[in-house]
Amino acid sequence: MAEKPNLHPRNLHRNPYDFDQLISCVPELKQYVFVNAYESVTINFSLPKAVKLLNKALLLHFYKVQNWDIPDTNLCPPIPGRADYVHYLADLLAENQKEVPKGLKVKGLDIGVGANLVYPLIAHQSYGWKMVGSDINKDSLANAERILSDNPDLLSAIQLKHQPNGDYIFKNIIDSKEKFTFSMCNPPFHDSEESALKGNLRKTKNLNKSKTIKPLLNFGGQQFELWCEGGELAFISKMIQESALYSSQVLWFTCLVSKKDNLFKLHTLLKKIKAVEVKTIDMAQGQKISRILAWTFIPQQNRKDWFSKI
Ligand SMILES: C[S@@+](CC[C@H](N)C(=O)[O-])C[C@H]1O[C@@H](n2cnc3c(N)ncnc32)[C@H](O)[C@@H]1O
Repeated sequence: MAEKPNLHPRNLHRNPYDFDQLISCVPELKQYVFVNAYESVTINFSLPKAVKLLNKALLLHFYKVQNWDIPDTNLCPPIPGRADYVHYLADLLAENQKEVPKGLKVKGLDIGVGANLVYPLIAHQSYGWKMVGSDINKDSLANAERILSDNPDLLSAIQLKHQPNGDYIFKNIIDSKEKFTFSMCNPPFHDSEESALKGNLRKTKNLNKSKTIKPLLNFGGQQFELWCEGGELAFISKMIQESALYSSQVLWFTCLVSKKDNLFKLHTLLKKIKAVEVKTIDMAQGQKISRILAWTFIPQQNRKDWFSKI
């Protein structure tokens, strides 16, 4: 497999996978590894089990996770793309600083942490940040909790919080005096269960270059993880509106936006609620282009001492 030059320069997954190394972390992966028609060593990315074991091996090898598992029905996150978000976030925090701020003084909130806990794991293991993960789904949080108990070293750095009301993003999660350096989110982006399933079918077809297969939910996940009323536009709009109430408690609010067409409306909303700076950070992962929308209410001259105050 070729190098992935589009990934962030600090992304640990730019080089082709070293399957011997990965198999030594997760021996079960071996049965899914083969040499393809281009003489590259690879796995079948349309097989959920193979993708899950690859992810596990990447987390164990590159992020020193001791054990990781998710139910077969849950969203299986492609690790390289998730790591890109973390590194671009780190660049954002490094603005006006000498280097990327590291350690537990940086506190991040992952909205919709899911069963896989992937952003807190990558963020903490890459930069030592303290992380809080929220979710509305109790089963997902129970699995995230299991991952933490399998990794006792992480218990003091990663905290989980249940959001009891799906209409809220920050309320019930950020306490009245609590401050966060950033919030991040990979939102449910489809607007219906049907569209979530269609999206998965498209992805599976692309991987297999065939027209007749069923969706395998390899990067899929249960419907609740992938869709919400109004899709990502409604979800992020809600997040933007609510962020104004926490304008002095979070330095940078950020969220992935998968549909470029949604940007105009989101930027208009950010202007309306008087965000002082808004950035759109492009990320390219294979054929897929995604972007991080970032906004802050803290004027630039006040951002520098944020880290010393929390
Ligand atoms: C696309 S999944 C992301 C999971 C994981 N962070 C990842 O990137 O693989 C979206 C998650 O958001 C959660 N969610 C939906 N509404 C939410 C809300 N109001 N607050 C917190 N989490 C929410 C869902 O339960 C789901 O776990």
